[in-house]
Amino acid sequence: MTQDLLYFDNAATSCPKPPETLRAMRRFMEDGGGSPGRSGHRLSIAAGRVIFAAREILAGLLGVDDSLRIVLTKNATEALNIAAVGLLKPGDHVITSGMEHNSVMRPLRALEAAGVALTVVSCSAAGELDPDDVRAAIRTETKAVFLTHASNVTGTIMPVAEIGRIAGDHGILFCVDAAQTAGALPIDVGPMGIDLLAFTGHKSLFGPQGTGGLYIREGLEGGIAPLMRGGTGSRSEFEEQPAFMPDRYEAGTLNTVGIAGLAAGAGFVAAQGVDDIRRREEALTEKFLAGLRDLDGVTVYGPKAASRQMPVVSFRIAGLDPAEAALKLDERFGILSRPGLHCAPAAHRTIGTAPTGTLRFSFGYFNTEAEIRTAVEAVGRLRAW
Ligand code: ALA
Repeated sequence: MTQDLLYFDNAATSCPKPPETLRAMRRFMEDGGGSPGRSGHRLSIAAGRVIFAAREILAGLLGVDDSLRIVLTKNATEALNIAAVGLLKPGDHVITSGMEHNSVMRPLRALEAAGVALTVVSCSAAGELDPDDVRAAIRTETKAVFLTHASNVTGTIMPVAEIGRIAGDHGILFCVDAAQTAGALPIDVGPMGIDLLAFTGHKSLFGPQGTGGLYIREGLEGGIAPLMRGGTGSRSEFEEQPAFMPDRYEAGTLNTVGIAGLAAGAGFVAAQGVDDIRRREEALTEKFLAGLRDLDGVTVYGPKAASRQMPVVSFRIAGLDPAEAALKLDERFGILSRPGLHCAPAAHRTIGTAPTGTLRFSFGYFNTEAEIRTAVEAVGRLRAW
């Protein structure tokens, strides 16, 4: 990336990636880039090792005991579709929140049209979810709760462990969308009561785009049909999809070069420590929120408390359309942000910013305090234009 750009769009995709990610991808391709789990020659075996290493490092970060419970996908959206479409049948009831991204909402709306009952539990204007409202929405036919771990619009962190307990007490499956949190907030699927966890590789896990995954708790795969069927390199004598993990959901050659990068990115996260990453990002968020607080004409949405949100801050500048503001920030200051609805219209309706949306700054591990100061100054100067 050009050195003089200030990148505040880490909720869309993290930038820059650590050099480890780039090196691993380059090495994989230079070394031959074999097909994993297929041919049995040395390059194929080497590719299989890359995939295995990725599963192991991801399992360690997410509190998953058996790394074969992690299905590698092309993104969090594919993972959420496997969970929703594979699990829910007409007559089932599913609960979600009013802060979801379209990666949850669109599959659930399509399932609703096909006969699945859907309850969208309202959240507060700060995007916060009351666990009692989820409890009150449960019916006898409720099959699952689908919930974001944190909003991509306001950064609001959801009470995942509490909802996990409620779901567990009622024998309901709990699927968490960790697109904004995997690698940036501690996740431990067992104690958090998570049955299914969808994550992306290209945000806080520092992998490339086109990578992600789905954790599926032991014993659940029998009730979750695969989205795709095809070659797996295993049980090739059968024309039916293997029933075992992770092959049941991994039809076709995997994105091994991307997964090599994901393994290295996740390794970088493990080496820094998720707690340290969180502390650093929380401090940056606090600094930005404090700076915006002093600016007249700037309205901030969400919890407005760094400890209760991810490093994602949505705001508006009086008299300035968010899209126009983002364009000016890019052109005049080299500041890269994301305006609009952020693929989460429900969240914007909840916080009262639909249909125009907000201007969103999202920080990452590689941002600095000096950059945050520049960001606040730029927002201050933008008000005068
Ligand atoms: N969901 C990503 C974002 O929030 C792309 O920008």
